[in-house]
Amino acid sequence: MQHSNSSETISSVSSATSLYDFNSSTPVQIEERLTINLIQSSSVPESNLEEGQDVIEGLSNRPKSLPPKYFYDELGSQLFEQICELPEYYLTRTEAAILQQYAGAIAQLTGPCELVELGSGSATKTRLLLDAYQDYGYPLTYIPIDVSGSMLTESAHQLLATYSDLRIHGLVSTYELALAQLPPTTLPTRMLCFIGSSLGNLTPEACDEFMTQVAAALQPGEYFLLGVDLHKSDDLLEAAYNDSQGVTAKFNLNMLHHLNWRFQGNFDSNQFEHVAFYNQAKRQIEIYLKSLTSQVATLRALNLTVNFAADEMLLSEISRKFDLQALTQTLQDHGLKPLKTFTDDKQWFGLLLCERQDNQPEEQ
Ligand code: AVJ
Repeated sequence: MQHSNSSETISSVSSATSLYDFNSSTPVQIEERLTINLIQSSSVPESNLEEGQDVIEGLSNRPKSLPPKYFYDELGSQLFEQICELPEYYLTRTEAAILQQYAGAIAQLTGPCELVELGSGSATKTRLLLDAYQDYGYPLTYIPIDVSGSMLTESAHQLLATYSDLRIHGLVSTYELALAQLPPTTLPTRMLCFIGSSLGNLTPEACDEFMTQVAAALQPGEYFLLGVDLHKSDDLLEAAYNDSQGVTAKFNLNMLHHLNWRFQGNFDSNQFEHVAFYNQAKRQIEIYLKSLTSQVATLRALNLTVNFAADEMLLSEISRKFDLQALTQTLQDHGLKPLKTFTDDKQWFGLLLCERQDNQPEEQ
């Protein structure tokens, strides 16, 4: 289906450090079973997102904020992988245990199925799904979507080495752009995986919009697999975002380095501090970069000057903690019906297998 383009070389892809190092939206066939392409906002007509516009908007909010996607440059993606291994960060290991136990049940329910994953990262947990589909003798097709081109390329190579029949079509892209431009399905059905509780980054309003996009990207009868962190005691939650080794602090502060690199900025990350706490009322962890002094930073590529007061807090992430009942209702309201909900013994984490419902008649 995809043809290699002789003007593209493998090294131009493997040297990529992020979305923005891919300089062509032409699909690049890396090897027989691997194709990768970049989806840029310019190739999605309905997107009016100017590069960096979200940074300008976020920094003009009060409190100032930045989109969490800017955590994930090459170093940020690596730091996140380290977070997943921290003793305090129970999320990854709890979700992996649920997948370990129920991936077979999921494969049985969906039948042969193309796996699409939003925010694939190292794709470690994805292997549990691939194992299950392989055990059933189903063909394996995987569409990883990630903003980090280097992470996507590396994990794709590792997967191909393990699964000899696997085909991969990676999209170096943000969620929004990829959902608007998914390649046609090559298997009877498709399961869109959004695991790891990244849904928690979205405000309730953004979550509504996201679910609308997910429902629009799927055909009736196709699947949506959603992994979410659940509400629990403050102590457990706050420890997970204030680890004793300081990896989460590094991860948070790295966003400033990333912005410096991406937009020719001069943030001094030594003049900021990591702060994270649980907001009970909103049921969300809030992560901030606190300015230690009164200071000015500029982002030359955006023509932007930003003033910080001493102790001013910049919101870099929210991480919402869900209630399964309320979430089930929200999904249903968006035409994504949960068929099965899987959790761990302690009910710390939830995995919901949803089915895209038939199109409802238009509301008036
Ligand atoms: C990737 C959004 C699920 O919210 O737990 C981890 C990101 N931030 N530690 C989360 C994160 C700080 C993570 N998600």
